[in-house]
Amino acid sequence: MQFTRFGEKFTAYSGILQLMDDLGNAVAGSGDIIMLGGGNPSHIAQVQNIFRKRIEQILANGNEFERLIGNYGPPQGPPAFAEAVATLLQQTYGWHISSENVAITNGSQTAFFYLFNMLAGEYPDGTTKRILLPLAPEYIGYADAGIAEDIFATNKPQFEYLDEHTFKYHVDFESLPIDESISAICVSRPTNPTGNVLTDHEIEKLRHLARSYGIPLIIDNAYGAPFPSIIFEKVTPVWDENIILCLSLSKLGLPGVRTGIVIARKEIAAAVNSMNAVVSLAPSSIGAGLALDMMRTGEIMEISRQLIQPYYEKRAEQAEDWVWEALTGTPFFLHKPEGAFFFWLWFKDFPISSAELYDRLKQRGVLVVPGHYFFPGLHEEWEHKTECIRMNYTPEEGKVRQGIRIIGEEIKRAYAEK
Ligand SMILES: Cc1ncc(COP(=O)(O)O)c(C=O)c1O
Repeated sequence: MQFTRFGEKFTAYSGILQLMDDLGNAVAGSGDIIMLGGGNPSHIAQVQNIFRKRIEQILANGNEFERLIGNYGPPQGPPAFAEAVATLLQQTYGWHISSENVAITNGSQTAFFYLFNMLAGEYPDGTTKRILLPLAPEYIGYADAGIAEDIFATNKPQFEYLDEHTFKYHVDFESLPIDESISAICVSRPTNPTGNVLTDHEIEKLRHLARSYGIPLIIDNAYGAPFPSIIFEKVTPVWDENIILCLSLSKLGLPGVRTGIVIARKEIAAAVNSMNAVVSLAPSSIGAGLALDMMRTGEIMEISRQLIQPYYEKRAEQAEDWVWEALTGTPFFLHKPEGAFFFWLWFKDFPISSAELYDRLKQRGVLVVPGHYFFPGLHEEWEHKTECIRMNYTPEEGKVRQGIRIIGEEIKRAYAEK
């Protein structure tokens, strides 16, 4: 069967599809697989209990349940939820926003699809514009989101070496490919896949650069403050009329309810709402229903700071020890874990590609993501792209430890083959 160009592009075997397939199969499968590949948050019992209680409350409260599931909401999502989000951000950070600056989408992935395609591609005057990713590695989910081909201009990072096995990427401002053909700058902060957190200084510079070109700076805050706050560095969240800040309820523990939140200047928030109407009529109201009260009271920030953030920070520290234990003796590098819940491991002068490593690990029952998927728009040959893997350290402790041990064995075997 033949599809349109759009159909072909969106049904091709993309990195994100491989990832979601592996994830789905591992979750549905025998349970023997050690799934370190996906983006699922941990099931933190205390947090899950809070949502369980909220559902029980909804069920017990007159016809709240029937109203929640039985009606379409407006394209901008439930108005009370947008208001609660705006008030929380106003009160927490002093940002001048109202509910008109808030748009709700079915997951923030959907928001990126809208935003990228609103901003990158062909303009009415015939010019073609692209999104600048100032620092790759960057989130795999961006890679295939463009309807037009080749929507990213992507920059390689600078490396800072922190000790013999730890490094950190920085934006290389000297080599940023920015000119009039760039229509927005986009960064994830904390970054998936590396756990990097761009410094306040880097964000300030990007903000300035975006302003000087009259283009928006998109900050993907899926893991950041004020929720879910999976961030281990002291940095300042920022927003102004020129920033499009994307938040999500997923990493709070609710990936199944698909709720993304866009904070942007009114005209952009309204554009997102219009796209919602066309693509899905309205966003799901379940996430908003579950989180409305905790957004109103600010409890969402307490849950994030007191339960979620310490949980992941502890997991990161623990798993970092296991990585050192399993990999010492090899020239491995771990990106400094500053947030999110992934380790980005770099095997310098690696004799096999990360895709080959992925296959070997899969045969041993461990799923990771090969690093080359995380360089959307970076077409040049660069050995670093095939020397890295991303692993998630959120599954059950025993599994993570065993997975890391197997990764260590395979890395040692690969280097020994050299
Ligand atoms: C950096 C980043 N942005 C956006 C998303 C999309 O999340 P969701 O669509 O669940 O809100 C993810 C998911 O893993 C992510 O890691």
